[in-house]
Amino acid sequence: MSHFKNLLHLIFAAFILNLYPYIIVTSQCNSDCNLALASYYVLPGSTLDHISSYFTNTSLREFSDEIVSYNRHVIPNKDDLRPNIRINIPFSCGCVNDTFLGHMFIYQFQTGDTYDHVARNNYTNLTTSNWIEQFNGYSRFNVPNGVFINVPVNCSCGIRSVSMDYGLFITYPLQQGESLRSISQEFNLSESLLQGFNPGVDFSAGTGLVYIPGRDQNGTYPPMITSVSGSGLSGGAIAGVCIAAVVLIVLSVGLYFRCRRSKKMKETEILSDKPAYVLTHSSFISRGGDKESSGIYMGNSVEFSYQELAKATNNFNASCKIGAGGFGEVFFAELRGEKAAIKKMDMQASREFVAELNVLTRVHHLHLVRLLGYCMEDSLFVVYEYIDNGNLSQHLHSTGRDPLPWSTRVQIALDSAKGLEYIHEHTDPVYVHRDIKPANILINKNFQAKVADFGLTKLVEVGSTLPTRLVGTFGYMSPEYAQYGEVSPKLDVYAFGVVLFELISAKAAIVRESRLAVESKGLVTLFEEVLNQPDPNEIGKLVDPRLGNTYPLESVHQVAELAKACTQENPQLRPSMRSVVVALMTLSSASENWDVDSFHRNNELINRVSGR
Ligand SMILES: *[C@@H]1O[C@H](CO)[C@@H](O)[C@H](O)[C@H]1NC(C)=O
Ligand SMILES: *[C@@H]1O[C@H](CO)[C@@H](O)[C@H](O)[C@H]1NC(C)=O
Repeated sequence: MSHFKNLLHLIFAAFILNLYPYIIVTSQCNSDCNLALASYYVLPGSTLDHISSYFTNTSLREFSDEIVSYNRHVIPNKDDLRPNIRINIPFSCGCVNDTFLGHMFIYQFQTGDTYDHVARNNYTNLTTSNWIEQFNGYSRFNVPNGVFINVPVNCSCGIRSVSMDYGLFITYPLQQGESLRSISQEFNLSESLLQGFNPGVDFSAGTGLVYIPGRDQNGTYPPMITSVSGSGLSGGAIAGVCIAAVVLIVLSVGLYFRCRRSKKMKETEILSDKPAYVLTHSSFISRGGDKESSGIYMGNSVEFSYQELAKATNNFNASCKIGAGGFGEVFFAELRGEKAAIKKMDMQASREFVAELNVLTRVHHLHLVRLLGYCMEDSLFVVYEYIDNGNLSQHLHSTGRDPLPWSTRVQIALDSAKGLEYIHEHTDPVYVHRDIKPANILINKNFQAKVADFGLTKLVEVGSTLPTRLVGTFGYMSPEYAQYGEVSPKLDVYAFGVVLFELISAKAAIVRESRLAVESKGLVTLFEEVLNQPDPNEIGKLVDPRLGNTYPLESVHQVAELAKACTQENPQLRPSMRSVVVALMTLSSASENWDVDSFHRNNELINRVSGR
């Protein structure tokens, strides 16, 4: 009888886990191509460097070469760009905000710019002012000079049912005088094919975008990429399967430990209550090869024994304790010749343990804390590299430390932004940290910052569709997350904005105005009130008094404006971490080596950067 019950459990579990992917994948677009081309109309006077700067934030020279490689027939020589021709510019095409296929470019607003001017001239009608306005917090009449704006450009990966022979598409802005016939002749592609890829579009409209099959650097049309292993699963469904795998792991780990604890229970109880698909330790952790089938891939991180950790911490002696967080205590130790921080978590925290290992084993970055190993005996342990100079919260709030100079603050902001950008945009799957705050930004001897504590990290694809436990820290939680539990990278952007305000003011995220005041105010509101005042010097009131007058007001102002953009109520209007990094890079190069003597020189520079 109990065997039968076990079997039912098993079938039920398998059923749920298999259905999960299809229930929770809600993305409205699938990006199967990653690359697209933008048809750019070269206006008289443009150079490749100019044009490159609108489409990349890396090396202009390299990108110019890349552009040339896609346009050999019209750009024979890099320095000889003829005006009034169209060139194709490669860009990465992906799902933006889970809603449309496109790419978000970053553009720094100059004096005299308007959204309309940017759309028509800088991006030669690849986008429109309305479309730009939807992704920026500033109304079109009120964009401050020097700020970075998001510029969305749409793209296409083709339409399976029309033809699988084409997988690279040109985003092509129509011009006056063009027609389906003229474009068909020019590209030597049939009218019906072109119309098929652009259902319902009038090619003679003289405005608007169409998608035209494009050629790669070798001059051939790349075909559509067929799904992995030909299973016909979309990218979204594959992501779903990965999520299901994680869900499975979380469940199994939980069950595994619960079972270990319940060894003492009567056997009958175990048989009737616990499903039979408990994974054993060895199948949960795998050291190589096929990570999909056997749980977390541990790469080359070390499994430590309990004895070793206990010995290194003097049996987890209080004198070795260097911190305590929501999910456990942190101890200092020297392990195998390296300084380490050991996080000891309760067995109940298996979910956080798995989340943390899951991120840190896959993600390696200079600005993310490095994983050394783990241990699963008695408690759950995660072992990291020890970062020797405390966390940002200590530097900002404890009087025992020297105040951080302004340039260091900007550098710390940039470092942590880079770490976050990495988990948001360069990992697969993408992660959301969910607990960004100064206490989780660690600082080393050279004042480099590293983001730590990935215990609450979530796969972004899980999105808002699963009921999530609200975790995170009050004061740093974005409104959509606090109210609806909506999870997206933009909640980290919000929290990061609060951290920026904190870097400026050294005030806590929730401020009590006076010791007697009952009401407390969020830092976001406090800054908003000041930034809305016409006098730009008002912000001085909020600047950390320990900075004295050793800071460039203009730079502080720009960081505050950036923080304001990050903490906008509407998550769609917040910049991506990528654009935050770009903005901070400009600011940090301007504030480097800043001191009172170079104030005027730098001020000039900042003014030039912001186009004043
Ligand atoms: C962009 O569109 C506007 C309005 O349709 C048109 O006047 C302008 O010439 C176009 N610019 C380019 C570069 O095609
Ligand atoms: C880009 O695509 C979106 C969604 O399909 C559409 O609403 C928007 O108008 C397009 N933008 C442009 C400039 O064509």
